[in-house]
This record gives sequence, C-alpha cells and structure tokens, in this order.
Amino acid sequence: MMRIGMLTSGGDCQALNAAMRGVVKCISHSGEQVEFYGFLNGYKGLIYSNFRMLTSEDFSGILTRGGTILGSSRTPFKTIREPDENGLDKVEAMKQNYYKLQLDVLVVLGGNGSQKTANLLSEEGLHIVSLPKTIDNDLWGTDMNFGFQSAVDVATNAIDNIHTTADSHGRVFIVEVMGHRVGWLTLNAGMASGADIILIPEIPYDIDKVVEAIEAREKRGSRFTIMAVAEGAISKKDAKLSKKEYEEKLAKSPYSSVSYAIADKILKKTGREVRVTVPGHMQRGGAPDPYDRVFASRLGAEAGKLILKREYGFMVAYKNREIVKVPLSEVAGKLKYVSPDATIIKEAKMLGISFGD
Ligand code: F6P
Repeated sequence: MMRIGMLTSGGDCQALNAAMRGVVKCISHSGEQVEFYGFLNGYKGLIYSNFRMLTSEDFSGILTRGGTILGSSRTPFKTIREPDENGLDKVEAMKQNYYKLQLDVLVVLGGNGSQKTANLLSEEGLHIVSLPKTIDNDLWGTDMNFGFQSAVDVATNAIDNIHTTADSHGRVFIVEVMGHRVGWLTLNAGMASGADIILIPEIPYDIDKVVEAIEAREKRGSRFTIMAVAEGAISKKDAKLSKKEYEEKLAKSPYSSVSYAIADKILKKTGREVRVTVPGHMQRGGAPDPYDRVFASRLGAEAGKLILKREYGFMVAYKNREIVKVPLSEVAGKLKYVSPDATIIKEAKMLGISFGD
C-alpha cells in the first residue's frame, strides 16, 4: 500500500484542484494500491498534523473548480527554522508527522517560497514531488506555471472592459496587475488587451517618458491611453535605492499602491484626469481556463508517473514544450524574471508599446 500526502501552499491560483486530480487519477488508474492524505491549509497542516484522508469522491467534479479543496496559507520560508510561539520546531514537526503517517511521498503544489520549503524537506530526507503553481509565472526551472494563463485571461478581460469606458471619456486609465516582483502577467495581459503603456519591475520607468507617450498619442489623435502597470513597477530613481531603503519609502508612501502614485504624478505633470483600477485577487479567482485545465492535468499525470517510478526530489516542469523533471535543489531560491532584452519586449516596442524607459 502506497501512502501519499498532498498539500497546497502559498497564494492560491486557478487549476490547483485540476493538478491534484491529475496526480490522483494517474496513480489510481495504474492499479497501485494507494491512500491519499490531504494536509489542510498548506504546510500548517503538516506542521500541526491537521489532515484528512481523501477518497475518490473528493476528486470528483473538481477539474473546473477554482481555489483548492485543501485550503492554503502562507508559511514563510524565512521563518521556517524559527520555533513557533509555543517553541515547536516546525521542520522537526513536519518530519515527525510525515513519518507517523508512514508516507511514501509528499506532493507539494506551490510557488517560489513553497518550493524552497519543499527542497528543505527533501534535503532532510523526505520524499517530495512538487508541482509549479503561481499566477506570477516567476518560478525558476519552468517556462510556464499553472494558474498563470487563467490570470492573464482575467487581467486581459479587466483591461478590455476599461478600454471602452476610457474611449468614451477620453481619459488616461491605469489597470494595476498582480505579479509580485515580476512582470510576466502585466506584459501578457497588457499585450493581449492592446495597452499603450506597460510598466513592469524589470524595466524601471521614467515618468517623463510615460508622459511623453501619453502626449504623443494625443497628438496622433487618440482620445485615451491605457496603461497596464505591474504592482511591482518601479521608477528609475527608486530602482537605485537599496531594497531596505525602497521598502522604507513604500511604507511611508501616502498611496495604497504604485499605480496611485503614478496617477498622481501624471496629474501633476499634465493636469490630465487619470483613473486607477485594481482587479487584485480577482486575478487568482474563479474557474481555470481550458489551457490551465489541460496543463495542470498533464503536470499532475507526470507527477503521478514520477511517484509510481519512486523518483523523488523533483518538480515537474515545462521546458521547450516538453514536460520534464527538474531537481528541487535547482528550483529553490531563484526567480524567473522578464529579461528587458527578451524578444517579446522588442516585439512589443515594435508595436509602439511604451515601457516608459
Ligand atoms: O504570488 C501570487 C500573488 O497573487 C502575487 O501576484 C501577489 O503579489 C500576492 O500573491 C498577493 O498575496 P496575498 O494573497 O497574500 O495578498
């Protein structure tokens, strides 16, 4: 009898359920005798032994369901080695709970921080297979993460809707897109929705160049300008600050996010009315799109295949249109940024999109 633990960790995204269903279906269809244990609310479930046995009913009808049937939480990697408020050694607790349940493997569905913890547990001797989830698409070692494409759809739809009202009123509109410290989501949603200006963290902007782009559009007869701004967008001036200095500056900022600061600068420089829309967590919510349903199911099946072959210590990943396995040690602690020299950036510029640089 094989005993498999499973958890979803970090910010949720679309297709987490589809991916878990993929793992379970693959293993169940192999004929292997197996029991599945779901840890609730991410690593917290593993630390505090909060789990339930999962049956095939749990996985029925969840291909299209957003969120995660196991719940999720953020358990920061930074503090994983620190004892909790009651002095509990979290890493030791996770190991003990894994051994107590006599698990053969733990399946972790997570983003950057969760993969670091997965690698730590693997180094501690647990059998781990992980899957790459995040709407940010910033995980190292994989060209694509499930959740990303669905979030692109939501953000694109938001910008599409803003387009019509911006046209009616002749306004400058900013749509702030998630993505943490990387610009994949903003770049893709911005291009998909025909944004005129795209600001991403990897290409620090100059506000005067942004204003130039707005005015150039006006001179060409355009009544409105659409800006897709990443929540992590940063000015050239601020990019020169240390991480600590920038965090202190943000903490003191009167604006709730970078987009409001940018809107205010444009207003002060040009007198133009600027409206800000923040779709926020909507981008992570709702049903996965067809791409993510298929992609997450494929990753789930391939993770199942690794487990059946008893190959542990890997994240299943997507590289050059193939599903591959990447050692967890190679994934942990690295982010995949948009390169300012990437072909897609050059092409976007050829299309007349301004990055404010
Ligand atoms: O990592 C996914 C993500 O949605 C980021 O894009 C965003 O910055 C962050 O999570 C939001 O985190 P929380 O859900 O904790 O507010």
